[in-house]
Amino acid sequence: MRYNIITAEEAAMYVNHNDNVGFSGFTASGTPKVITVAIANRAEAEHAAGRPFQIGIFTGASTSDRLDGALARAKAIKFRTPYQSSVDLRAAINAGEVPYFDMHLSELAPKLRYNYFGKIDIAIIEASSITDDGKIYLGTGVGIAPTVCQMADKILIELNAHLPKELAGFHDIYEPLDPPYRREIPIYTPSDRIGTPYLQVDPNKIIGVVETNLPDGTKEFDSVNEVTMKIGKNVSDFLASQLANGGIPKEFLPIQSGVGNIANAVLSCMGDNPQIPPFQMYTEVVQDSVIDLMKKGRCTFASTCSLNISDSLASELFQDLDKYRDKLVLRPSEISNHPGMVHRLGLISINTALEVDIFGNVNSTHVVGTKMMNGIGGSGDFTRNAYMSIFTCPSVNKGGKISAIVPMVSHTDHSEHSVRVVITEWGVADLRGKDPRQRAEAIIENCAHPMYRPLLRQYLEKTANGHIPHDLSSAFAFHEEFLRSGDMSQTTF
Ligand code: COA
Repeated sequence: MRYNIITAEEAAMYVNHNDNVGFSGFTASGTPKVITVAIANRAEAEHAAGRPFQIGIFTGASTSDRLDGALARAKAIKFRTPYQSSVDLRAAINAGEVPYFDMHLSELAPKLRYNYFGKIDIAIIEASSITDDGKIYLGTGVGIAPTVCQMADKILIELNAHLPKELAGFHDIYEPLDPPYRREIPIYTPSDRIGTPYLQVDPNKIIGVVETNLPDGTKEFDSVNEVTMKIGKNVSDFLASQLANGGIPKEFLPIQSGVGNIANAVLSCMGDNPQIPPFQMYTEVVQDSVIDLMKKGRCTFASTCSLNISDSLASELFQDLDKYRDKLVLRPSEISNHPGMVHRLGLISINTALEVDIFGNVNSTHVVGTKMMNGIGGSGDFTRNAYMSIFTCPSVNKGGKISAIVPMVSHTDHSEHSVRVVITEWGVADLRGKDPRQRAEAIIENCAHPMYRPLLRQYLEKTANGHIPHDLSSAFAFHEEFLRSGDMSQTTF
């Protein structure tokens, strides 16, 4: 190999205070695993010596504790975008210590190229293999790797021996031209390939290769519980009924599904529903449940940005990758989440809300309107442009002390103009074609927990005025009560 093999510590010395650093990966999948920890150690040493050391972090999505967690604990982050789910980084963001710019995942790569954030000084990329002429075969997640490699003058590679060489061929690397030269992206079905199986870089930019042998570290999800199972069943029954009445074409449509326990339950219920035909996915994350559906022949193809499967399933899959060669493609986040593709392919998007208001606005990000949970992720990319956008959530949280259905959301990520269907364990509110009062009735009667329905009805009856009958003096009464007593059910109007 023509490249310098170096240690993670030596690699970290190439990263300078104030640098903007772009990382490969999407979730823990494909995210560098050792240089990041070495950078965090270096930052701590610099701080101990009285010198500043902080970097800007640009990723595909959330990462792992080895990146966001380690660097947040080392107080080494000067700026972070676009999505995170680290306990320590979340705390630092909410304490006002780390500036965090929460943006749609599809947008980051083009906005980097449009110079919204200045220069990317260095790209750190995980690879399963690399050639002397600069062909990088990526790992289990792509994210913004093509763009940061193009923009950075220096590239560091983590060559991960845990990844089988057979992973080559699963990626489809493509970057659109920027305006005014932008053309259509020629994807017409989820399985279309338009790019190369490798990321081509100038080999002279590769300043070092660090050898690793580590799994992504992804845990299995909780098993399906009674509430998530009911939500999953409500979603799959609703989709089957839409198929039967022509709301969804008879060929069915590709599915985008968020990540997490609810998404797992939804997919498993769709797999078990004989009225739903085998389907394709065009999504940002493939988790264990999708592979299960592939084994059963229920999911026939998935286009994704990240193969975010548990380490145990990954070991099994890596023994048998050829079986999945015609069933999976890994794309950059700019393409997996592209609004134009979501619109053209006619996706059915299924994402999770923190809270939904009775008029159909959704909060996916801010607990009680102030504390950042994770970020908007891809939910906006898909929701705004989907054939049919669905939000799911349990009707209550914290043993009933929080109602997910509120008079007015305390933060808006997805507005009433984009949210089409809301589903909880109690049922389905189909908001299409309904005016605000009709939407409120559907959400209260079908989705709210019965213990909160009388309070929500009371709120709705408070004012007869306006197209959206809000009472601004009590619109946040649920949240105020939660902050006061820790229990929304004690709200009085
Ligand atoms: N008010 C206050 N807290 C709330 C709440 C509300 N309305 N709803 C949930 N919570 C709390 C829960 O109690 C839980 O707290 P805990 O960690 O102390 O137990 C926490 O928030 C997470 O709730 P949970 O029900 O476990 O959420 P989840 O894992 O299903 O994630 C989102 C839900 C919304 C946070 C998550 O889906 C997300 O980040 N979405 C945005 C990104 C996205 O949609 N991407 C799309 C494609 S992957």
